[in-house]
Amino acid sequence: MRATSLLLAAVGLAGSTVAHPFGETEAVLGPQLQSQEKADAVKEAFQHAWDGYMKYAFPHDELHPVSNGYGDSRNGWGASAVDALSTAIVMGNADAVNTILDHISKIDYTRTPDGVSLFETTIRYLAGMLSGYDLLTGPASDLVSNTENVDNLLTQAKNLADVLKFAFSTDSGVPYNNINITSKASDGATTNGLAVTGTLVLEWTRLSDLLGDDVYAELSQKAESYLLAPQPSSGEPFPGLVGSNVYISNGEFADGAVSWNGGDDSFYEYLIKMYVYDPKRFETYKDRWVLAAESTIKHLTSHPKPRPELTFLSSYNNGNYDLSSQHLTCFDGGSFLLGGSVLGRQDFIDFGLDLVHGCEATYNQTLTGIGPDSWGWDPKKVPSDQKDFYERAGFYINSGYYVLRPEVIESFYYAYRITGRAVYRDWVWNAFVAINATCRTDSGFAAVTNVNAKNGGSKDDNQESFLFAEVMKYSYLTHADDAEWQVQPGDGNTFVFNTEAHPMRVKHT
Ligand SMILES: *[C@@H]1O[C@H](CO)[C@@H](O)[C@H](O)[C@H]1NC(C)=O
Ligand SMILES: *[C@@H]1O[C@H](CO)[C@@H](O)[C@H](O)[C@H]1NC(C)=O
Ligand SMILES: *[C@@H]1O[C@H](CO)[C@@H](O)[C@H](O)[C@H]1NC(C)=O
Repeated sequence: MRATSLLLAAVGLAGSTVAHPFGETEAVLGPQLQSQEKADAVKEAFQHAWDGYMKYAFPHDELHPVSNGYGDSRNGWGASAVDALSTAIVMGNADAVNTILDHISKIDYTRTPDGVSLFETTIRYLAGMLSGYDLLTGPASDLVSNTENVDNLLTQAKNLADVLKFAFSTDSGVPYNNINITSKASDGATTNGLAVTGTLVLEWTRLSDLLGDDVYAELSQKAESYLLAPQPSSGEPFPGLVGSNVYISNGEFADGAVSWNGGDDSFYEYLIKMYVYDPKRFETYKDRWVLAAESTIKHLTSHPKPRPELTFLSSYNNGNYDLSSQHLTCFDGGSFLLGGSVLGRQDFIDFGLDLVHGCEATYNQTLTGIGPDSWGWDPKKVPSDQKDFYERAGFYINSGYYVLRPEVIESFYYAYRITGRAVYRDWVWNAFVAINATCRTDSGFAAVTNVNAKNGGSKDDNQESFLFAEVMKYSYLTHADDAEWQVQPGDGNTFVFNTEAHPMRVKHT
């Protein structure tokens, strides 16, 4: 998942006679047994976290993995269970899948004591259910015998969208993000963020396509329309790269601050993913992504002085460049790789790999082998106690937290699936082993406070639901057999992953 940084500070192809999708052979795949063992080790980690969640937290939103308590940060509808569904499905974990389906059939989405985030609810709950439906009515249909529980996923997805849809009832159609579903009121904000406005369209369009009812698609595409044709021109300082906030009253941009960081990130991610979802309907989205990608290469590429071979993305505002980046931003390599592969643009693939290597460097250089939540490389801002580290690593750490985010592993996964090179698979494994060694508790996995301290500094008592949805899924899929839901090179994708790593079936029209 993306955009919240501001809050924190199988179908086997194993047989040797079957071609690997990349057209390469054993040298790429490595010994089959080894990969299978690694996939099994990820399953073990998933099961460990799932058992701890079931014992101490279910049906609450998330486990507190140090105190063995629980939290309800996502409206108390069982976020970890719904977010875990598509991962449990691709792992073939029928026990967990059946438990989650039972739970989902009992959720009352009309009730919650807390304010609701349209974005978070869409990417975790709505997408989790839609993905479960697509997988269990498609390539994973063998896993569940109770088809009523599977059909119910779509019913509950509609129920949830019907609860949320009043958020779009504004003068412009740009939604409020923070809403009260009881009073049908909003927080009264005058602007909405780029990512939270622009990361709804995949889920709401998928829902419409499955139901044969355009109302949900239309709401999300109307909101998106302002982002695709930015007004005024100050909202688009470089072709395709747009500001960070739009006015809810009229859809005009409120600023021209450009980045791929949290708050902006998944707007760019969804432009190309909508094209993968349906190239006929979403060609304009692709054109906007291409413009953004070309401008990004031209204007945001940055190389740290001590290690000019590394590539990071800077951000831009009003003539100034900010030389800092975030773990959240590291989905960027995957986005360039997906776009480059789908469009046959080697320049985008090459740039994506540069970004992937930059993000790997943030993992490679710390004591734990896990990268920080944010870092910088501005020679004028190096903290005095990090001068040696900066000279060696090429960056200094702004926030050393690791909160179980997936983006670096996610981009390694795209790099591996699209190039077939074993080094990217090895990087996923290294990261997974480091997370397992540093964050694991008796009941699950905890965020840690300092990735460059022994044992990660101290443990923070929270296990975000995206551990299940994303970290476990990308780590597993990298080492698992080929399957219909895996990312494929070129135009071979039959599924596309939402920003929370929930695979949705693409629309062939
Ligand atoms: C939402 O509105 C209801 C009804 O007006 C109110 O009782 C409740 O406190 C509100 N919830 C939040 C989180 O503000
Ligand atoms: C860092 O990268 C180097 C060179 O690829 C490799 O030899 C080393 O094992 C890596 N270290 C970590 C902690 O990943
Ligand atoms: C993960 O940690 C557990 C507990 O320490 C250990 O038993 C297991 O072997 C580890 N897995 C990997 C792949 O390192």
